[in-house]
Amino acid sequence: MPATQTNASLTFRRTTETPVAGAKTLGQHYFVSPEIFAEEQEKIFSRDWVVVGQQSQIARQGDYFVAWVAGESLIIVRDKSEEIHGFYNVCRHRGTRLIEDRNGHLSTAIQCPYHSWTYALEGRLIGAPHMEDVREFDKADYSLHPVNLMLWEGFVFVNLAGAAKQRGGYRSQEEWFAPLAGKFLHWNLPKLRSAKRVEYDVCANWKLIFENYSECYHCPGVHPQLQKISPYDSAENDLTEGPFLGGFMRIAKGNSLTTSGNACALPVGDMGAENFHRVFYYSIFPNMLLSLHPDYVMVHQLQPQSPDRTLIYCDWFFHPEAFGRENFKPEDAIEFWDVTNKQDWHVCELSQQGINSRAYQPGPYSSRESIPAAWDNYYLRRMR
Ligand code: FES
Ligand SMILES: [Fe+2]
Repeated sequence: MPATQTNASLTFRRTTETPVAGAKTLGQHYFVSPEIFAEEQEKIFSRDWVVVGQQSQIARQGDYFVAWVAGESLIIVRDKSEEIHGFYNVCRHRGTRLIEDRNGHLSTAIQCPYHSWTYALEGRLIGAPHMEDVREFDKADYSLHPVNLMLWEGFVFVNLAGAAKQRGGYRSQEEWFAPLAGKFLHWNLPKLRSAKRVEYDVCANWKLIFENYSECYHCPGVHPQLQKISPYDSAENDLTEGPFLGGFMRIAKGNSLTTSGNACALPVGDMGAENFHRVFYYSIFPNMLLSLHPDYVMVHQLQPQSPDRTLIYCDWFFHPEAFGRENFKPEDAIEFWDVTNKQDWHVCELSQQGINSRAYQPGPYSSRESIPAAWDNYYLRRMR
């Protein structure tokens, strides 16, 4: 029977390990086939809520960044009334890419570099030289194409599915995130600010990154430095099926997951004495890994590029009041996880290389790999 622990407002429902019941890894074609990759882009990345950033990246009116989802370039911008919008990066005149820089600041408007059609930050076409000579042309008909956008815990998610596709997989934000409602309240996620982003270009299929994140069976051999502070067999999972999976691992008392082993910043929130010695790891389908530590929150954002290549943005978020304090040592956490990340990417790349072989066959998951098996189950459901 699952045991339930309550502390402050966090309810952690602990489950026994899900039996893997003969589960095996996915077949080779899921990792190498361009057709499967295209199908994933259509059935998953074009229909799901996909994380593209965090609100503090565009803190001021006019700040923007460009995101890539399912092969589409999108402009994410904060308008003059502080609202955040998402648009296809496509001019309504002759289709030109509007913005080339990855991020920046727009003073008042988005202007196309080709014939200078100009759009307000909320997408309205406000300038189109000489178009007044064109019969029946109405600027109101040529706003930028919007994408569905929402904030969840301060993170910006977009969904490319239009209303017509709602039956094919589109879920409203409330419906989609219902299983996580209130779960991370004490980590103050909407308030946090990134101290650093590191980009990794990994020669491995995006699913290998999720599968690797979802187990610590590999930790004793691959991460000796992590294993010392957070024992590989201390995992307890509370989300064991569906699009959100994970649980916590223990952190040795008096330690933090940093190179020095010491806390590197103010706690991100008041998560209760017990959770102060835990690191929570959750995978948020299809492209976010959320790692909640007492003193910082690390987020990986995945962008699949091809069957065997994935770009990963990793951000380290801290309490806004931690910045500027004497005991603020973000590099202590960043270095620790940069080493750990690279160890993970390396084994993921080795996996990809072995899976490419004609000798590869699906192998059996161990009892310590119930979450990767659950992740595969949900993925397969989505692909059917
Ligand atoms: S293509 Fe953008 S103004 Fe002509
Ligand atoms: Fe790992």
